[in-house]
Amino acid sequence: MDKLEEKIKSIQKNLETELNQIKDLKHLDNIRVLFLGKNGIITNLITKLKNFSSEEKRKFGPQINQLKKESEEKINKSKEKIIKTQAKALNLKKQNFDVTAYNPNRKKGSLHLYSKFIEEIENIFISMGYDIFDGPEVESDFYNFTALNIPQNHPARDMYDTFWLNKQDMLMRTHTSTVQIHAMKTKSTPIAGIVTGRAFRHEAVDASHDIMFYQCEGIFIDKNVTLSNLFSVSKKFLQTFFKKENLDIRIRPGFFPFVEPGIEIDMQCPFCTKGCSVCKKTRWIEVFPGGLIHPNVLKAGGINPEEYSGFAFGFGLTRLAMLKYRINDIRYFHSGKYKFLKQF
Ligand code: DAH
Repeated sequence: MDKLEEKIKSIQKNLETELNQIKDLKHLDNIRVLFLGKNGIITNLITKLKNFSSEEKRKFGPQINQLKKESEEKINKSKEKIIKTQAKALNLKKQNFDVTAYNPNRKKGSLHLYSKFIEEIENIFISMGYDIFDGPEVESDFYNFTALNIPQNHPARDMYDTFWLNKQDMLMRTHTSTVQIHAMKTKSTPIAGIVTGRAFRHEAVDASHDIMFYQCEGIFIDKNVTLSNLFSVSKKFLQTFFKKENLDIRIRPGFFPFVEPGIEIDMQCPFCTKGCSVCKKTRWIEVFPGGLIHPNVLKAGGINPEEYSGFAFGFGLTRLAMLKYRINDIRYFHSGKYKFLKQF
Protein backbone atom coordinates (compact mmCIF):
# COMPACT_ATOMS: atom_id res chain seq x y z
CA MET A 1 0.00 0.00 0.00
CA ASP A 2 2.99 2.21 0.38
CA LYS A 3 2.81 2.22 -3.38
CA LEU A 4 -0.50 4.07 -3.24
CA GLU A 5 0.94 6.73 -1.00
CA GLU A 6 3.79 7.12 -3.42
CA LYS A 7 1.32 7.38 -6.24
CA ILE A 8 -0.63 10.14 -4.47
CA LYS A 9 2.59 12.03 -3.91
CA SER A 10 3.68 11.63 -7.50
CA ILE A 11 0.26 12.85 -8.73
CA GLN A 12 0.60 15.93 -6.53
CA LYS A 13 4.07 16.56 -7.87
CA ASN A 14 3.07 16.08 -11.51
CA LEU A 15 0.14 18.44 -11.14
CA GLU A 16 2.44 20.99 -9.55
CA THR A 17 4.92 20.69 -12.44
CA GLU A 18 2.16 20.99 -15.03
CA LEU A 19 0.64 24.02 -13.35
CA ASN A 20 4.00 25.75 -13.29
CA GLN A 21 4.21 25.55 -17.05
CA ILE A 22 0.71 26.76 -17.72
CA LYS A 23 0.36 29.21 -20.64
CA ASP A 24 -3.33 30.07 -20.91
CA LEU A 25 -6.84 29.06 -19.88
CA LYS A 26 -7.11 26.47 -22.62
CA HIS A 27 -3.92 24.83 -21.49
CA LEU A 28 -5.21 24.87 -17.91
CA ASP A 29 -8.46 23.20 -18.93
CA ASN A 30 -6.55 20.41 -20.67
CA ILE A 31 -4.71 19.77 -17.41
CA ARG A 32 -7.93 19.80 -15.42
CA VAL A 33 -9.34 17.16 -17.72
CA LEU A 34 -6.11 15.13 -17.45
CA PHE A 35 -6.35 14.98 -13.68
CA LEU A 36 -10.00 15.49 -12.74
CA GLY A 37 -11.90 14.76 -15.97
CA LYS A 38 -14.21 11.70 -16.38
CA ASN A 39 -11.19 9.58 -17.19
CA GLY A 40 -8.72 11.69 -15.28
CA ILE A 41 -5.87 10.33 -13.17
CA ILE A 42 -7.48 11.31 -9.85
CA THR A 43 -11.00 10.31 -10.89
CA ASN A 44 -9.72 6.82 -11.83
CA LEU A 45 -8.07 6.53 -8.45
CA ILE A 46 -11.38 7.31 -6.73
CA THR A 47 -13.12 4.66 -8.86
CA LYS A 48 -10.49 2.12 -7.87
CA LEU A 49 -11.19 2.87 -4.20
CA LYS A 50 -14.38 0.81 -4.44
CA ASN A 51 -12.37 -2.35 -4.81
CA PHE A 52 -10.30 -1.70 -1.68
CA SER A 53 -10.85 -3.48 1.62
CA SER A 54 -12.67 -1.46 4.28
CA GLU A 55 -9.44 -0.96 6.19
CA GLU A 56 -7.74 0.40 3.09
CA LYS A 57 -10.74 2.56 2.33
CA ARG A 58 -10.51 4.08 5.79
CA LYS A 59 -6.83 4.76 5.36
CA PHE A 60 -6.67 5.99 1.79
CA GLY A 61 -10.18 7.33 1.28
CA PRO A 62 -9.52 10.60 3.13
CA GLN A 63 -6.07 10.93 1.49
CA ILE A 64 -7.50 10.56 -1.98
CA ASN A 65 -10.37 12.94 -1.25
CA GLN A 66 -7.88 15.42 0.12
CA LEU A 67 -5.87 15.02 -3.08
CA LYS A 68 -8.95 15.76 -5.15
CA LYS A 69 -9.87 18.83 -3.06
CA GLU A 70 -6.36 20.23 -3.09
CA SER A 71 -6.00 19.66 -6.80
CA GLU A 72 -9.26 21.47 -7.50
CA GLU A 73 -8.12 24.36 -5.35
CA LYS A 74 -4.76 24.56 -7.07
CA ILE A 75 -6.38 24.56 -10.50
CA ASN A 76 -8.82 27.30 -9.47
CA LYS A 77 -6.01 29.43 -8.08
CA SER A 78 -4.08 28.97 -11.26
CA LYS A 79 -7.13 30.08 -13.24
CA GLU A 80 -7.49 33.28 -11.23
CA LYS A 81 -3.81 34.01 -11.67
CA ILE A 82 -4.02 33.63 -15.45
CA ILE A 83 -7.10 35.86 -15.71
CA LYS A 84 -5.39 38.56 -13.66
CA THR A 85 -2.16 38.41 -15.68
CA GLN A 86 -4.07 38.58 -18.96
CA ALA A 87 -6.11 41.61 -17.85
CA LYS A 88 -2.94 43.34 -16.72
CA ALA A 89 -1.21 42.67 -20.07
CA LEU A 90 -4.23 43.96 -21.99
CA ASN A 91 -4.30 47.12 -19.94
CA LEU A 92 -0.62 47.69 -20.48
CA LYS A 93 -1.02 47.12 -24.20
CA LYS A 94 -3.80 49.70 -24.36
CA GLN A 95 -1.82 52.24 -22.39
CA ASN A 96 1.29 51.81 -24.48
CA PHE A 97 -0.43 51.61 -27.86
CA ASP A 98 1.70 53.63 -30.27
CA VAL A 99 -0.35 54.83 -33.21
CA THR A 100 2.78 55.97 -35.02
CA ALA A 101 4.56 52.62 -34.74
CA TYR A 102 5.86 51.21 -38.01
CA ASN A 103 3.38 48.88 -39.64
CA PRO A 104 4.84 46.98 -42.57
CA ASN A 105 1.40 46.17 -43.99
CA ARG A 106 0.10 49.71 -43.98
CA LYS A 107 -1.43 50.84 -47.28
CA LYS A 108 0.22 53.99 -48.51
CA GLY A 109 -1.71 56.81 -50.13
CA SER A 110 -0.50 58.35 -53.36
CA LEU A 111 -1.53 60.93 -55.91
CA HIS A 112 -4.42 60.02 -58.17
CA LEU A 113 -3.54 59.11 -61.73
CA TYR A 114 -5.13 62.38 -62.90
CA SER A 115 -2.99 64.51 -60.58
CA LYS A 116 0.19 62.84 -61.79
CA PHE A 117 -0.86 63.03 -65.37
CA ILE A 118 -1.86 66.72 -65.22
CA GLU A 119 1.44 67.59 -63.59
CA GLU A 120 3.33 65.72 -66.29
CA ILE A 121 1.49 67.57 -69.08
CA GLU A 122 1.79 70.94 -67.39
CA ASN A 123 5.53 70.46 -66.92
CA ILE A 124 6.03 69.76 -70.62
CA PHE A 125 4.22 72.96 -71.61
CA ILE A 126 5.89 75.00 -68.86
CA SER A 127 9.24 73.87 -70.32
CA MET A 128 8.10 75.40 -73.63
CA GLY A 129 7.29 78.72 -71.94
CA TYR A 130 3.54 78.24 -71.49
CA ASP A 131 1.51 79.54 -68.54
CA ILE A 132 -1.08 77.46 -66.69
CA PHE A 133 -4.59 78.90 -66.90
CA ASP A 134 -7.74 78.13 -64.99
CA GLY A 135 -11.43 78.76 -65.59
CA PRO A 136 -14.88 78.02 -64.14
CA GLU A 137 -16.75 74.76 -64.66
CA VAL A 138 -20.12 76.51 -64.47
CA GLU A 139 -20.29 78.72 -67.54
CA SER A 140 -22.59 80.96 -69.47
CA ASP A 141 -23.79 80.25 -73.00
CA PHE A 142 -21.50 83.08 -74.15
CA TYR A 143 -18.21 81.48 -73.05
CA ASN A 144 -19.15 77.94 -74.00
CA PHE A 145 -20.75 78.66 -77.38
CA THR A 146 -21.38 82.18 -78.69
CA ALA A 147 -17.89 83.58 -78.13
CA LEU A 148 -16.47 80.44 -79.75
CA ASN A 149 -18.31 81.24 -82.95
CA ILE A 150 -21.19 78.87 -82.20
CA PRO A 151 -24.21 81.22 -82.11
CA GLN A 152 -27.78 80.21 -81.19
CA ASN A 153 -29.20 77.58 -83.55
CA HIS A 154 -25.77 76.76 -85.00
CA PRO A 155 -25.74 73.03 -85.89
CA ALA A 156 -22.38 72.59 -84.09
CA ARG A 157 -24.28 72.90 -80.79
CA ASP A 158 -25.55 69.39 -81.48
CA MET A 159 -22.00 68.05 -81.02
CA TYR A 160 -22.26 68.94 -77.35
CA ASP A 161 -24.93 67.25 -75.26
CA THR A 162 -25.16 69.96 -72.67
CA PHE A 163 -26.12 69.94 -69.00
CA TRP A 164 -28.15 73.14 -68.82
CA LEU A 165 -28.67 74.61 -65.37
CA ASN A 166 -31.89 76.00 -63.94
CA LYS A 167 -30.51 79.50 -64.28
CA GLN A 168 -31.03 81.00 -67.71
CA ASP A 169 -28.14 80.63 -70.16
CA MET A 170 -26.02 78.81 -67.59
CA LEU A 171 -24.49 75.38 -68.14
CA MET A 172 -21.71 72.98 -67.12
CA ARG A 173 -18.91 73.63 -69.60
CA THR A 174 -18.88 71.02 -72.35
CA HIS A 175 -15.23 71.70 -73.14
CA THR A 176 -12.26 73.63 -71.79
CA SER A 177 -12.17 75.84 -74.92
CA THR A 178 -14.14 78.32 -72.78
CA VAL A 179 -10.86 79.27 -71.08
CA GLN A 180 -9.58 80.67 -74.40
CA ILE A 181 -11.99 83.57 -74.05
CA HIS A 182 -11.27 84.12 -70.33
CA ALA A 183 -7.53 84.23 -71.13
CA MET A 184 -7.95 86.66 -74.03
CA LYS A 185 -10.10 88.95 -71.89
CA THR A 186 -7.78 88.99 -68.89
CA LYS A 187 -4.21 88.62 -70.23
CA SER A 188 -2.21 90.88 -72.45
CA THR A 189 -0.67 89.65 -75.67
CA PRO A 190 1.38 87.63 -76.43
CA ILE A 191 -0.56 84.84 -74.72
CA ALA A 192 0.69 81.26 -74.40
CA GLY A 193 -0.97 78.92 -71.96
CA ILE A 194 -2.80 75.70 -71.32
CA VAL A 195 -5.64 74.74 -69.04
CA THR A 196 -6.44 71.28 -67.77
CA GLY A 197 -9.82 70.66 -66.23
CA ARG A 198 -13.11 68.88 -66.22
CA ALA A 199 -15.73 68.98 -68.96
CA PHE A 200 -19.29 67.67 -68.73
CA ARG A 201 -21.54 66.06 -71.31
CA HIS A 202 -24.99 64.61 -71.01
CA GLU A 203 -24.08 61.30 -72.61
CA ALA A 204 -24.82 57.64 -72.09
CA VAL A 205 -21.96 56.14 -70.08
CA ASP A 206 -19.97 53.26 -71.53
CA ALA A 207 -16.34 52.08 -71.62
CA SER A 208 -15.24 55.14 -73.60
CA HIS A 209 -17.79 57.81 -72.58
CA ASP A 210 -18.40 59.36 -69.21
CA ILE A 211 -20.53 62.35 -68.26
CA MET A 212 -17.43 63.98 -66.79
CA PHE A 213 -13.91 63.77 -68.16
CA TYR A 214 -10.72 65.81 -68.32
CA GLN A 215 -9.58 67.94 -71.20
CA CYS A 216 -6.55 70.07 -71.96
CA GLU A 217 -6.82 73.22 -74.04
CA GLY A 218 -3.90 75.26 -75.29
CA ILE A 219 -3.58 78.62 -77.04
CA PHE A 220 -0.80 80.75 -78.42
CA ILE A 221 -1.60 84.26 -79.64
CA ASP A 222 0.97 86.68 -81.03
CA LYS A 223 1.79 88.52 -84.25
CA ASN A 224 2.32 86.20 -87.24
CA VAL A 225 1.42 82.91 -85.59
CA THR A 226 0.96 80.22 -88.23
CA LEU A 227 -0.11 76.60 -88.43
CA SER A 228 3.53 75.48 -88.55
CA ASN A 229 3.92 76.80 -84.97
CA LEU A 230 1.06 74.51 -83.96
CA PHE A 231 2.64 71.55 -85.76
CA SER A 232 5.99 71.95 -84.02
CA VAL A 233 4.51 72.48 -80.54
CA SER A 234 2.20 69.46 -80.93
CA LYS A 235 5.01 67.28 -82.18
CA LYS A 236 7.35 68.28 -79.36
CA PHE A 237 4.63 67.69 -76.79
CA LEU A 238 3.78 64.22 -78.11
CA GLN A 239 7.44 63.21 -78.43
CA THR A 240 8.12 64.21 -74.82
CA PHE A 241 4.91 62.76 -73.47
CA PHE A 242 5.29 59.36 -75.13
CA LYS A 243 9.08 59.45 -74.64
CA LYS A 244 9.78 58.85 -78.36
CA GLU A 245 12.25 61.32 -79.81
CA ASN A 246 11.44 60.60 -83.44
CA LEU A 247 7.67 60.32 -83.14
CA ASP A 248 6.15 61.86 -86.25
CA ILE A 249 2.77 63.51 -86.74
CA ARG A 250 0.52 63.95 -89.75
CA ILE A 251 -2.16 66.52 -90.39
CA ARG A 252 -5.66 66.14 -91.79
CA PRO A 253 -8.27 68.84 -92.30
CA GLY A 254 -10.93 69.05 -89.58
CA PHE A 255 -13.84 71.26 -88.73
CA PHE A 256 -14.56 73.20 -85.54
CA PRO A 257 -16.36 76.56 -85.68
CA PHE A 258 -13.74 78.25 -83.49
CA VAL A 259 -10.78 77.58 -85.81
CA GLU A 260 -10.08 78.42 -89.44
CA PRO A 261 -8.48 76.42 -90.90
CA GLY A 262 -9.21 73.51 -88.57
CA ILE A 263 -7.02 70.43 -88.43
CA GLU A 264 -6.80 66.96 -86.91
CA ILE A 265 -3.43 65.77 -85.68
CA ASP A 266 -2.50 62.10 -85.84
CA MET A 267 0.66 60.66 -84.33
CA GLN A 268 2.69 57.65 -85.31
CA CYS A 269 1.75 54.72 -83.12
CA PRO A 270 4.22 54.82 -80.20
CA PHE A 271 3.56 51.18 -79.34
CA CYS A 272 4.49 49.34 -82.54
CA THR A 273 6.37 49.47 -85.83
CA LYS A 274 4.17 47.20 -87.89
CA GLY A 275 0.62 47.86 -86.71
CA CYS A 276 -1.08 46.75 -83.49
CA SER A 277 -4.47 46.69 -81.80
CA VAL A 278 -4.04 50.23 -80.42
CA CYS A 279 -3.52 51.79 -83.87
CA LYS A 280 -5.88 49.26 -85.42
CA LYS A 281 -3.05 48.18 -87.72
CA THR A 282 -2.85 51.61 -89.37
CA ARG A 283 0.35 52.81 -87.60
CA TRP A 284 -1.41 56.16 -86.94
CA ILE A 285 -3.49 57.28 -83.96
CA GLU A 286 -5.79 60.28 -83.99
CA VAL A 287 -4.72 62.44 -81.05
CA PHE A 288 -6.20 65.92 -81.11
CA PRO A 289 -7.80 68.68 -83.14
CA GLY A 290 -6.76 72.30 -83.39
CA GLY A 291 -6.28 75.11 -85.87
CA LEU A 292 -5.84 78.84 -86.24
CA ILE A 293 -8.18 80.74 -83.96
CA HIS A 294 -11.13 82.07 -85.94
CA PRO A 295 -11.15 85.93 -86.29
CA ASN A 296 -14.62 86.01 -84.70
CA VAL A 297 -13.24 84.27 -81.60
CA LEU A 298 -10.33 86.71 -81.32
CA LYS A 299 -12.82 89.57 -81.61
CA ALA A 300 -15.06 88.06 -78.91
CA GLY A 301 -12.00 87.91 -76.66
CA GLY A 302 -11.18 91.57 -77.37
CA ILE A 303 -8.21 90.94 -79.64
CA ASN A 304 -7.80 92.57 -83.05
CA PRO A 305 -7.59 89.80 -85.70
CA GLU A 306 -5.96 92.22 -88.15
CA GLU A 307 -3.02 92.57 -85.83
CA TYR A 308 -2.83 89.21 -84.08
CA SER A 309 -3.24 85.57 -84.96
CA GLY A 310 -3.09 82.46 -82.84
CA PHE A 311 -3.49 78.75 -82.71
CA ALA A 312 -5.60 76.60 -80.41
CA PHE A 313 -5.76 72.91 -79.74
CA GLY A 314 -7.77 70.77 -77.38
CA PHE A 315 -7.53 67.17 -76.35
CA GLY A 316 -9.23 64.70 -74.12
CA LEU A 317 -6.79 64.26 -71.28
CA THR A 318 -8.64 61.20 -70.10
CA ARG A 319 -8.38 59.68 -73.54
CA LEU A 320 -4.65 60.38 -73.70
CA ALA A 321 -4.17 58.78 -70.27
CA MET A 322 -6.10 55.72 -71.46
CA LEU A 323 -3.89 55.56 -74.52
CA LYS A 324 -0.61 55.97 -72.65
CA TYR A 325 -1.41 53.52 -69.86
CA ARG A 326 -3.55 51.19 -72.00
CA ILE A 327 -6.63 51.61 -69.82
CA ASN A 328 -9.61 50.10 -71.57
CA ASP A 329 -12.49 51.50 -69.51
CA ILE A 330 -12.98 55.19 -68.71
CA ARG A 331 -15.14 54.32 -65.70
CA TYR A 332 -12.10 53.14 -63.72
CA PHE A 333 -10.93 56.74 -63.27
CA HIS A 334 -13.68 57.67 -60.84
CA SER A 335 -14.40 54.22 -59.49
CA GLY A 336 -12.10 54.65 -56.49
CA LYS A 337 -11.03 51.03 -57.03
CA TYR A 338 -7.88 50.47 -54.99
CA LYS A 339 -6.67 47.69 -57.27
CA PHE A 340 -6.78 50.08 -60.24
CA LEU A 341 -5.34 53.11 -58.43
CA LYS A 342 -2.38 51.38 -56.83
CA GLN A 343 -0.92 50.56 -60.25
CA PHE A 344 0.04 54.17 -60.82
N1 DAH B 1 -13.29 71.91 -77.76
C1 DAH B 1 -13.26 70.82 -78.71
C2 DAH B 1 -14.09 69.66 -78.17
O1 DAH B 1 -14.17 69.51 -76.99
C3 DAH B 1 -11.87 70.40 -79.02
C4 DAH B 1 -11.09 71.42 -79.80
C5 DAH B 1 -11.10 71.37 -81.16
C6 DAH B 1 -10.41 72.43 -79.14
C7 DAH B 1 -10.39 72.27 -81.93
C8 DAH B 1 -9.70 73.38 -79.91
C9 DAH B 1 -9.70 73.27 -81.30
O2 DAH B 1 -9.02 74.37 -79.33
O3 DAH B 1 -9.01 74.19 -81.99
O4 DAH B 1 -14.65 68.92 -78.90
